[in-house]
Amino acid sequence: MERALVDFPSLQRLVLADKKAHCEGLCTLVFRADGKRTERLAPAKAGQYIALTGEFDGSRVTRAYTLASSPEETERDGVYVVTVKKAGILSGYLCDRLRVGDGISASVPYGDFVYDADTDGDHIVGVAGGAGITALLSLAKDACARGDYTMTLFYCVENSYEFLFDEELDSLPSERVKVVRVAADGVRKNAEKGVFRRELIDKHLDRPFALFACGGDDFYESVRKETAGHPLLAGFKTSPNGVSDRAAEPSAVYSLTVIADGERLSVPCRDNETLLVAIERAGLAARSVCHTGRCGFCRSRVLAGEYTVESRHDTRTDDDKAAGIICPCCTYPESDIIMTVPVAR
Ligand code: FES
Repeated sequence: MERALVDFPSLQRLVLADKKAHCEGLCTLVFRADGKRTERLAPAKAGQYIALTGEFDGSRVTRAYTLASSPEETERDGVYVVTVKKAGILSGYLCDRLRVGDGISASVPYGDFVYDADTDGDHIVGVAGGAGITALLSLAKDACARGDYTMTLFYCVENSYEFLFDEELDSLPSERVKVVRVAADGVRKNAEKGVFRRELIDKHLDRPFALFACGGDDFYESVRKETAGHPLLAGFKTSPNGVSDRAAEPSAVYSLTVIADGERLSVPCRDNETLLVAIERAGLAARSVCHTGRCGFCRSRVLAGEYTVESRHDTRTDDDKAAGIICPCCTYPESDIIMTVPVAR
């Protein structure tokens, strides 16, 4: 049975309450419920994300943004905090054009990059690569608020000026969260010089831990390599990265025919972009949340045509493959395609 029958996570209506620019193309946004269509924000777990949706010249674009706020802040202060790096139409809009007081639609919090007391023990290690600090900051604040787990947080950047959230990180009680900054340039005082290495684990850890990594896919590979077979390592979780365009320029443009809600629509689809991007550009309200192949909300059926699924994000079963089920958020066309998609209501 298609998971397309799963309900779309309810939309919330948010309003921008505060905005802080860190540098060109990087900002932190604080959202509240708009108080009209959404009275109160849906609760979040530390490490989850929300999907924001915007409409631009007939395109309807949804992208996921990790929460830097803790569940306690959402509950107590009524806020979601996200840090946005400018890359793509929606992030560009959020960084450059969204003003305090403006509204935007968002999904409820979603994602499985969360602490699980049954499997993750009472101590976790966070390894953040650059902007990946957001989800781990949320987990660090959660560790302080809950009191049933502690954390060692390795925060790794290339250049010391890239460190974010100094005030918040420095205010965390050190008996609950130990923050170890790691900078390749060696400029920052009281930071480890270099990149994340196994020796850092040996130096700062003496108890079993589940590892939570948040950064780019190359970063995950290097953290995996450095920690492989470590005797204290009791688990390894990564925060998923969205699928992006394969190359700057397409080498072919195909016709994508989408059947949604009984209607048929044909749109051009470049071979360097996912089917979901083409569907969004056509203005269709296709269901999507994570853009990583994990949430399953975009699951669709290809009726005709050739395609490839990004291997790192391919979560299909053999039955899915036999039935032509795909997640368009991580599938690229290799010919003209006809497919059915579930739509958001
Ligand atoms: S949007 Fe989550 S699997 Fe496609």
